[in-house]
Amino acid sequence: MRLHMEKKMVELLEPVQGFLHCSTPQAWLDEAAKPENTSMLLLDHLHCELKAAQSATFLIRRYAPESQLAGHVLSWLEPYEDFLYRGRGSGDFSQAAVPSKLGLKDRNHDPVVNELLSKMVLLIKEELHHFQQVWEIMEARDIEIVPLSAARYAAGLRRHMRTHEPAAFIDKLILGAYIEARSCERFAKLAPLLDTELERFYTSLLRSEARHYQDYLALADLLAEQAGTPLTSVQDRIQVLGEVEAELITADDDQFRFHSGKPLNHSQEIAIEGSATDLI
Ligand SMILES: [Fe+2]
Ligand SMILES: [Fe+2]
Repeated sequence: MRLHMEKKMVELLEPVQGFLHCSTPQAWLDEAAKPENTSMLLLDHLHCELKAAQSATFLIRRYAPESQLAGHVLSWLEPYEDFLYRGRGSGDFSQAAVPSKLGLKDRNHDPVVNELLSKMVLLIKEELHHFQQVWEIMEARDIEIVPLSAARYAAGLRRHMRTHEPAAFIDKLILGAYIEARSCERFAKLAPLLDTELERFYTSLLRSEARHYQDYLALADLLAEQAGTPLTSVQDRIQVLGEVEAELITADDDQFRFHSGKPLNHSQEIAIEGSATDLI
């Protein structure tokens, strides 16, 4: 049974590792596995889950503005944003209403818009579920929510995004894929180094994060095909942005976060400004 599980895990992670241009540095894993860093790890993870949902929401509102869902997505996130950024609510999100899949009336005749809506709606639902799971673990451990200073990872990636369409859309999708793939790789590497509860939890996240990265890539291919952009140019962007991502992951970093680089005498202080900008 155990061997079967391990084989499944290897099959799941192989494409993720093949997609990424580097492995997570051992120094980051050593830092992340220190018990004194667990609170920061979980707190940043909580922010990342919401950021991942927010990014998907942004894509729907930016690229499918005429869809009915574009008018609803902000309200799906509101209880989570109120809770994390404004300290409102009890942390029970069981009433939050994100559908599991598109209703018939939400279907769109444009295949890219249709795929975008169906993949992003499921992704938002899953990320918000992860948010609730992280929060429940934090609450049981008496870990408080405090504001976090912005991490450099997502901003560092976005700096390389092209600004004209459809190139900007393609780049956003590719960056989404890298962020999801890196999260998956880190969860897998980190899981066996943490306590049993976190090991189980992080292992349970692998399958959805691996699917999220593939969903983003499939959308990039579909969009390129529709826009008449050669698939080789998507491959070129995957290459370029993959190098940027690997550079951010392997460079020295004085801040410890879920997507930070090699730890460099980082300070444990939590700056009371801004918010995390990474996504999972
Ligand atoms: Fe997630
Ligand atoms: Fe994800």
